[in-house]
Amino acid sequence: MRKKQEKKRIAMLTGGGDCPGLNMAIKAVSEYAIKHYGWEVIGVKNGLNGIVGDNTIINFNDSELIQMDIDFPFDTLVRQGGTFLGAYRKIRRKSYSKVKNDEDLASVMLPAFKRNIKDLNIDGIISTGGDGSMFLMNFLCEKAKIPFIGIPKTIDNDTPATEISIGFSSAVDACVHAMDSIFWTAKSHHRAICVEVMGRDTGHLAMHSGVASCADVILTPEIPYTISNIVKKLRDIMKTEQRDYFVIVIAEGAGAEKGKKLPKNYDSVAKYVSDKLSEAGIESRSDVLGYLQRGGLPNGYDRMLAAELGVMAVDLMADGYTAYITGMKDGKPTKIPLKSVCKKETRTLDINSPIVKTAIKLGTYIGEVKKK
Ligand code: F6P
Repeated sequence: MRKKQEKKRIAMLTGGGDCPGLNMAIKAVSEYAIKHYGWEVIGVKNGLNGIVGDNTIINFNDSELIQMDIDFPFDTLVRQGGTFLGAYRKIRRKSYSKVKNDEDLASVMLPAFKRNIKDLNIDGIISTGGDGSMFLMNFLCEKAKIPFIGIPKTIDNDTPATEISIGFSSAVDACVHAMDSIFWTAKSHHRAICVEVMGRDTGHLAMHSGVASCADVILTPEIPYTISNIVKKLRDIMKTEQRDYFVIVIAEGAGAEKGKKLPKNYDSVAKYVSDKLSEAGIESRSDVLGYLQRGGLPNGYDRMLAAELGVMAVDLMADGYTAYITGMKDGKPTKIPLKSVCKKETRTLDINSPIVKTAIKLGTYIGEVKKK
């Protein structure tokens, strides 16, 4: 156990979108900082909005800030989905509405950020976030000269530099449960069902949940596919397994066949693939899983991960680190420089990863993988 150090007053917030496991991260940071280090912890509502938005009121009455204490009902909160501190993608402040990109946004919000951090007497910030929200926090904290430690979270699992982010494992579970239900309709009605999962521009969630639910076809943005080879795969199954029902998992960013953009008349890639299969004579339907993947309850792994990364974040701050995230490397919580997260490169699905190799070995059609 590290030694207690001088008393600090830190702010804890949940940046970016919600995901399962955030409440455990808030609990771990707050309880450990308060009990072990004797620090004060301010919970900031609605992400960065709570520090720089129009509603930030420093006197705690009707404000975006909560004084955390050990009597907080963490025992019930950690079992819930979402974040009890609230999340907000956009800043509720008129002057921010015309800003075009993250760089401009960060500069516009800097004066309010500096002022409120000073008024609040904050010595450091710990925030959960994906690569976008980490970029903003990094910029603001660096300029305001305030220590910052990030904790990676996202159901997309695309945060660079960490093997896994909080929320991914629960989202995989949610997708698998949904596909276990969808399977029975596919089987009863002798049809293909194309299921669209989230993941933004990456296929981690599709590949992991697809393998876990024994999907016949898994499509991701990283690997181009052809409709004719999907049809071929399904016809092969009909012939060799005498099976006429199929589950097809498609990442929301997979696009149209051969790496092309989705035609303008489609807002769902699952609907696009499903229509093409119907045209080829295979009865098919589509389903978009949506927010049930993100808003569900945290599973055991995500709670454990959030606890480990949260506690480590507090230790890093106590040891004087700044601009680091607590990520996972080789299965262990590890401190990772924030600059390797803010490279503006997405962490895409590795074609040579065990999960992709497994999908191929199991005979799943995952697109046109180039043979070495
Ligand atoms: O990054 C998480 C994620 O759920 C993506 O998978 C999805 O594309 C996006 O957020 C949806 O975000 P919003 O909250 O803006 O609908």
